[in-house]
Amino acid sequence: MPILEILHFPDPRLRTKAQTIAHVSDEVRALAASMFETMYAAPGIGLAATQVNVHKRLIVLDISDDKQDPYCLINPELREVSGVANSEEGCLSVPDIFEEVTRSERIRVRALDLAGNKQEFEASGRLAICIQHEMDHLEGKLFVDRLSSLKRTRIRKKFEKQQRTSS
Ligand code: NI
Repeated sequence: MPILEILHFPDPRLRTKAQTIAHVSDEVRALAASMFETMYAAPGIGLAATQVNVHKRLIVLDISDDKQDPYCLINPELREVSGVANSEEGCLSVPDIFEEVTRSERIRVRALDLAGNKQEFEASGRLAICIQHEMDHLEGKLFVDRLSSLKRTRIRKKFEKQQRTSS
């Protein structure tokens, strides 16, 4: 399976809103497999299809240290949220930037799994943060959008400069 190219901020394609997956086909399963491989190779703990320029509602995650806890959520929806948690986040599309972001502490998520079955579960801590971060990508949102405009502008300028000097 190929390693996929990850889009980098401020690429406008990261702003695309992803489409619902009508049918969990072999093509969707192949996409998930490539996304897991790409995420582990990066290495990262989460990846949304948006980040590999596929605008479908699919995210993969694994917050374990030993790649033993993979999650694939198709058409994920937040059913309930509660509490507030601040934690430092990073993103494979915004390399080497880590900033504190405020999110819900506990969530209940509904999604389809790779067999096309409905799953619903509760998450808290790092898993809950990671799911919310990846779900933002499906809306065309990045964690930098949750920072002050001053910080976001500073980060955008840094990446634009890097892209100019590397091309
Ligand atoms: Ni991200």
